[in-house]
Amino acid sequence: MSGPDSNNTDILVRFRNVQKSYDGRSMIVKNLNLDIQHGEFLTLLGPSGSGKTTSLMMLAGFETPTSGTIELAGRSLDDVPAYKRNIGMVFQNYALFPHMTVAENLAFPLKVRGLGKDDIKKRVENGLAMVQLNQFGNRFPSQLSGGQQQRVALARALVFEPQVVLMDEPLGALDKQLREHMQYEIKRLHNKLGITVVYVTHDQGEALTMSNRVAVFNDGVIQQIDSPEELYERPVTAFVANFIGENNRTHGRITGVENGYGTVLLDNGTHMQGVLANQSLKTGDMVSVSIRPERVVIDPPAGSTEQNGQGEILEFVYFGDHVRLRLNLYDNPNFVVKQPIAMLGQTLKVGKRINVGWKREFVRILDPYQ
Ligand SMILES: Nc1ncnc2c1ncn2[C@@H]1O[C@H](COP(=O)(O)OP(=O)(O)O)[C@@H](O)[C@H]1O
Ligand SMILES: [Mg+2]
Repeated sequence: MSGPDSNNTDILVRFRNVQKSYDGRSMIVKNLNLDIQHGEFLTLLGPSGSGKTTSLMMLAGFETPTSGTIELAGRSLDDVPAYKRNIGMVFQNYALFPHMTVAENLAFPLKVRGLGKDDIKKRVENGLAMVQLNQFGNRFPSQLSGGQQQRVALARALVFEPQVVLMDEPLGALDKQLREHMQYEIKRLHNKLGITVVYVTHDQGEALTMSNRVAVFNDGVIQQIDSPEELYERPVTAFVANFIGENNRTHGRITGVENGYGTVLLDNGTHMQGVLANQSLKTGDMVSVSIRPERVVIDPPAGSTEQNGQGEILEFVYFGDHVRLRLNLYDNPNFVVKQPIAMLGQTLKVGKRINVGWKREFVRILDPYQ
């Protein structure tokens, strides 16, 4: 053990300066530092190829870091082989043993760990009950639906009470309805068992709804790690702002800075105020400026918004609970506004000019997207 707070018992997994290269040249994971709390549901979210699976594989012990160290419960995993790590895993493609029954699949990790026969029987029963498959112990995987197979995989990963469970896009192969049901099941088990889950997905909705915290990966680097609400409301980089949710984005140059707010002269000559997303932004910097469609108010009461403008409706879509408009605003023909039906005071149609506005606290001034 080393480091100032390595005896902090709330931290279960710790990546310290972890790097990974497969070919000795390009770094797939670049200096990863990440602390995962006991009982946390942490999600690695990012585009395909950003290094999520590689990070998980290093934690599981199937890949070795090129440099750096991973700790589990305060102990380095450097010399601990995968099968001794007490980590459960669930993958996208089930990976159940096809020639074993469901019950045998669940018993397998317990046998490997040398548990007694009676103990195994009891745990298998509990495991099946946990995922509501009590009646299915004698079936073979091929006799189950995709969702049932994935529940077996889940039970098999949990049955030996691992310290951490890793899930790599476990619901990726399921249809939408089943996926949402399984998201709920996984959350239920996480809450009930108090286990620590490290979850990988490229689906932002899944990440936001399931996680305590989300680490946004891009190109082998964590761009931001925060609660879902923080990530959505206060992205610190343009990548995060654009990857999560929808944004109206423009560009410009900072002309003034005060109290955490900046004023940006947009390319079309308009000034726009917003929150500086990082401390180092200063007058003269070229930046991108983002505002979410649902933060734009149609016909804002006088004085309720700091920024106001008028735009022509180019497109209008009615969703029942909200409307979605595309406006030409500030020379941007792709400015999107989402408004709950209950907030609408006038009939809207294509061609109409409307007043819109927003509070400057909802505008993010970010480094230009690299
Ligand atoms: N075993 C491997 N050998 C060589 N390159 C790999 C290997 N596994 C992954 N990569 C490469 O590493 C990069 C990151 O992959 P991965 O960690 O699977 O990303 P993600 O899970 O975020 O999609 C990709 O460019 C991929 O091609
Ligand atoms: Mg992957």
